[in-house]
Amino acid sequence: MSYIAFKHLHTTLATLTLLVFLLRGAWAMMGSAMLDKKWAKITPHVIYTLLLISAFGVAWLGWGYPQVMHGWITAKLIGLVAFIAAGVMAFRPSGGKRLRLDMFALALVIYGYLVAVALTKSAFIV
Ligand code: HEM
Repeated sequence: MSYIAFKHLHTTLATLTLLVFLLRGAWAMMGSAMLDKKWAKITPHVIYTLLLISAFGVAWLGWGYPQVMHGWITAKLIGLVAFIAAGVMAFRPSGGKRLRLDMFALALVIYGYLVAVALTKSAFIV
């Protein structure tokens, strides 16, 4: 697969990640039983896995990463882990409502950071 194909796949999966995250957030706020469906729990994992594969594809083909180190790509990897961790806490049924809302907001901020890093190619987004 070419660099351009991986990049299209990666941005599509990044968009899908946000849409699914917002949909789950809306379901959580409405107290919808949809959140408990098996496919609703599995889908985010599938999307994250594909997002990571596409990320490594574009990082390797476009930037020679990890043979050639790029701080901003490492920052994106760490950022994705932080995004997933905040998301897990945001949708944990046992968590307090305040904490879950805070984690939801934090995950969105991290998502924005990841897009900014991609556009600026800098971990410091300048
Ligand atoms: C939620 C997570 C992520 C989001 C929202 C995201 C978003 C984006 C976006 C919007 C672009 C396109 C930038 C452009 O058109 O110039 C991009 C490109 C890219 N992303 Fe991600 N990304 C995520 C995760 C990752 C991860 C974990 C990695 C680490 C391997 C990564 C590595 C890259 C690379 C190498 C590019 C190509 C940049 C280029 O060649 O222009 N991304 N990402």
